[in-house]
Amino acid sequence: MPAHGSEPVGPFPPEADPVEYDKLRRRVLWKFPSGLYVIGSRGNDRRNLMTANWVTQVSFEPKLVGVSVEKDALTHELITADGIFTVNVIDREDRAIIRKFTKPVEEDHEAATLNGFAFRDAPVTGAPLLEQAVAYVDCRVHQAVDVGGSTLFLGEVVDADFQKAEETDVLRMEDTRMNYGG
Ligand SMILES: Cc1cc2nc3c(=O)[nH]c(=O)nc-3n(C[C@H](O)[C@H](O)[C@H](O)COP(=O)(O)O)c2cc1C
Repeated sequence: MPAHGSEPVGPFPPEADPVEYDKLRRRVLWKFPSGLYVIGSRGNDRRNLMTANWVTQVSFEPKLVGVSVEKDALTHELITADGIFTVNVIDREDRAIIRKFTKPVEEDHEAATLNGFAFRDAPVTGAPLLEQAVAYVDCRVHQAVDVGGSTLFLGEVVDADFQKAEETDVLRMEDTRMNYGG
C-alpha cells in the first residue's frame, strides 16, 4: 500500500537480521491503534480528499492537529500551496469510502461532488468538507515539518463541528483489513 521500497531502513539493533527485524518492526508499528480519516485540501484552484491515519492532536495551546502527508501526494502539493486542510471523521458505516480516496479525486463542480461524494467548502478556510462526515476540524497550517518522505503539517483548528449525532460510531483502522505505515 505505501509506496516505499522494500529495502529495510535502519537503524537496526546489534545482531539483528535486517530483513527479519524490518518485518517485526512493521508489525509492531501496525499494532498502534489509530483512527482513519479523510483529509480535505484545496490549493492552486483544485480540491482533493485523501484517506489518512497519520492524524492526531498534538497540542492544547495552540489547538494543533498534525497530519503527515507523503511528499508525492496531490494533497501535499495543495496543502503546501494554500496552507489549509480539513480532517473529516468518518462514520463506521461508511468504511467503504476509504478506498475511494486513495488517489487524486475527480471534481464535479456543478454537482459539488468529489469522486461522486457530496462536499461543501468549510466556512472558515474554504477547504472541502465531506458532507457525510460525522464531524470535522478545519485547519490553517501553523508549521510544516519536513520528516523525510512526508511532511508533518501542524494545523491550527480554526473551526470544528459535528454533522451527525455525537454518539455515532466512528471509523478506526481496526475496522478495516488495511494497514498503513510500519
Ligand atoms: C488505510 C490508509 C491510510 C493512509 N494513511 C495515509 C497517511 O496518513 N498519510 C499519507 O500521506 N498517505 C496515507 N495513505 C495513502 C494515501 O491515501 C494515498 O497515497 C493517496 O493516493 C495520496 O493521496 P493524493 O495523491 O490523492 O493526495 C493511506 C492509505 C490508506 C489505504
